[in-house]
Amino acid sequence: MKLSTLALAAALGLIAAPALAEEQPVDPYTVSDANAGTAPITDPAVFKAFHGQGGVNRIVASLIGFYHTDPRLTDIFHAADFERLQRLLGEQFCYILGGPGHYTGRDMASAHKDMGLQVRDFDALVEDLQSAMDKEHVPNWAQNKLLAKLAPMKRAVVTR
Ligand code: HEM
Repeated sequence: MKLSTLALAAALGLIAAPALAEEQPVDPYTVSDANAGTAPITDPAVFKAFHGQGGVNRIVASLIGFYHTDPRLTDIFHAADFERLQRLLGEQFCYILGGPGHYTGRDMASAHKDMGLQVRDFDALVEDLQSAMDKEHVPNWAQNKLLAKLAPMKRAVVTR
């Protein structure tokens, strides 16, 4: 196929675009569950109330949906690596909820440094997380277990 034909085919969308689902590289860091920022919940009823791995994945997906649509958050997340974020939030929530697997992301202070996040940004994200958990029909008592684990992370995430 001549180059011009290839270019035309690409322009017409006849050639498959490379997969979009690719994470961007980040500076090296030490991988450790300690980076999740808290110890896992030991009561197995909590992970069950979140409907296990599937429930956690659905909650993370709808939370990420809010990052695209909540006008309080869209600017903050406009340049985010959603592939990486979705994977790591899933790992982190699953780990904290006492589910299987490990957290392989950065610690909360490093992940959010230089973002200049404020208390109102934190509160907006928590509100959206609550909506995501409601949508998954996670009972309030179990929601509160996760929120109690996340609340102290405000100190690491909020920098102004
Ligand atoms: C307890 C609350 C929070 C948790 C558990 C959390 C968790 C995470 C995780 C796991 C990452 C990925 C870390 C990595 O790449 O290694 C991340 C990145 C990020 N978080 Fe948070 N976060 C929290 C609060 C917030 C808040 C309040 C905001 C802003 C409203 C925010 C904005 C971001 C942004 C913009 C990134 C980077 C995305 C990118 O550059 O690709 N986070 N967060």
